[in-house]
Amino acid sequence: MCQNTQNIEKKRVLSCIQPSGMLTLGNYLGALKNWVNMQDEFDCTFAVADLHAITVRQDPAKLRQQIYSTYALLLALGIDPEKNTLFIQSHVPQHAQLSWLLSCNTQFGEMSRMTQFKDKSLKHANNVNVGLFSYPVLMAADILLYKPDLVPVGADQKQHLEIARDIAIRFNNLYGDVFTVPEPYIAKTGARVMSLQDPFKKMSKSDENLNSWVAILDDKDTVIRKFKRAVTDSLGQVKFGEEQPGISNLITIYSAVTGKSVAEIEKEFEGKGYGDFKLAVGESVADALAPIKAAYDEIIKDKKALEVLYKEGAQKAEYVARKTYFKAMKKVGFVV
Ligand code: TYM
Repeated sequence: MCQNTQNIEKKRVLSCIQPSGMLTLGNYLGALKNWVNMQDEFDCTFAVADLHAITVRQDPAKLRQQIYSTYALLLALGIDPEKNTLFIQSHVPQHAQLSWLLSCNTQFGEMSRMTQFKDKSLKHANNVNVGLFSYPVLMAADILLYKPDLVPVGADQKQHLEIARDIAIRFNNLYGDVFTVPEPYIAKTGARVMSLQDPFKKMSKSDENLNSWVAILDDKDTVIRKFKRAVTDSLGQVKFGEEQPGISNLITIYSAVTGKSVAEIEKEFEGKGYGDFKLAVGESVADALAPIKAAYDEIIKDKKALEVLYKEGAQKAEYVARKTYFKAMKKVGFVV
């Protein structure tokens, strides 16, 4: 019998990215590449998580610019605002509102265990604000409002996702079924892209050593130069393994960009030097990023067109977010 596929509901996907500075190759391989790949199969909601960015001090003019720039970059990557819901978090008030409801159902001890809070409070010792502490609750609100089945993130966000699941389960047990308990979706390759200068550290835009990270918008020469300077070791072989963390990181990047397996890569560079290998990785990354930069340079020119898109995106998002939020409010006992 012929099935009407239009009636089969697509699974839902939600993810967000902070607009704090330039987006990196880590963001791209760990998360954004998956967002792009998921948009045909899933019903996707993606947001620029601007509220999260002020957990560390931001220059207002720069922050505004980065919010535009991040939204434009998501478009440049090929995320289709017609097919998906693509919006700016602060434009949908239910994120902050639900965050309060969830905060009152989250324990101080749970938040104290978050490794990212521990790291960031050491790094920003003069501004250990309450928002930095309760940030995972806002992230839980971002997620739970849209009832996603899957949340595509890099490995560094796994702990935050687990707490979002715990919060959802606890809330549902206390008040009745409101939230879907989401599953993390973590890429097999590229979920943890490491610094090019210290392979024990995550590649991060906040790293002061500019050679340690590649921006999605870096030009070809810059990308290649950074890869040429990447730290390796003295073993002189392109092999994946614990004793070669720098080379393993480069293999992971090359594999994520080209789709080649680790074994294929090891074979390709058998008997070749690190110079050849680093150049090949740099060129493959530069080739993957070049069309994104070209699209971005066009999109960012037209702020009016961007405004139309992010306003439409916020409307679509709020339609869904309001329903979940009011349901949660009602269950807790508010007059709605
Ligand atoms: P953010 O903005 O730091 O990073 C965005 C996404 O990029 C991934 N990522 C990486 N993946 C692999 N290797 C790396 N070196 C690397 N660096 C970053 C992150 O895992 C993430 O998936 N709290 C989140 C943003 C957020 C969110 C949400 C995510 C807010 N609300 C709701 C999912 C659902 C964050 O700070 O990611």
